[in-house]
Amino acid sequence: MDTHLTFDVITLFPALLEGVVDQSIIGRAVGNGKIGVGLHNLRDWADGPHKMTDDRPFGGGAGMVLKPEPLFKAIEKFRSETTTVVYMSPDGENLTTSLARELAQEKHLVIVSGHYEGIDQRVRDQIVDREVSIGDYVLTNGTLAAGVLIDAVSRFVPGVLGKEESLEQDAFSDNLLGHPQYTRPAEFRGMKVPDVLLSGHHESISDWRQQRRKDKTSHLRPELLSTN
Ligand code: ADE
Repeated sequence: MDTHLTFDVITLFPALLEGVVDQSIIGRAVGNGKIGVGLHNLRDWADGPHKMTDDRPFGGGAGMVLKPEPLFKAIEKFRSETTTVVYMSPDGENLTTSLARELAQEKHLVIVSGHYEGIDQRVRDQIVDREVSIGDYVLTNGTLAAGVLIDAVSRFVPGVLGKEESLEQDAFSDNLLGHPQYTRPAEFRGMKVPDVLLSGHHESISDWRQQRRKDKTSHLRPELLSTN
């Protein structure tokens, strides 16, 4: 199988991502070997009768912190020279189209998702290569963020999207939002599909779509145009 990119996710809640991995376009890409996804429970690397993965923060304060030993062991189990270790955190660089495209060039991503108040800083200092945020808000744990990263990155792995799901006219390609879409019927409750889309003239359709993308972007997200 010519798997281009493999993800190994280390999390306390692997079941949260089972649907991501076996449904829809990502499920198909896993099925036909374009990407690989391993879901691993951090608890499997925890020692002691209680398999503790977290402990109280030194210095006091609310919440619990994920301990370094199980995280180091788990990451070291999967890491090789071609691995990039990514920690999902609201402190990280923002996930954008360009970051997703860049990570899609990698061979192997180990994704660490934290929980509670985060993870021991020594893990971040020593063994994490990059930190990625999916937006300026805090999730109860990073596992859903890991699912978002897998989805956004996989779209840029060759062969993951079929021809009918091409990247070209997508929102954010060329820093423009997507164009409006219509399907049958051509008239619904008195609302008509724009004539040009029924015309069969590919060039006029393409011009119309590009113009709608520009109009929509300058109306809804003008700041995207200035970064063009
Ligand atoms: N973990 C908690 N909040 C997060 C966010 N916004 N992005 C990535 N990981 C997170």
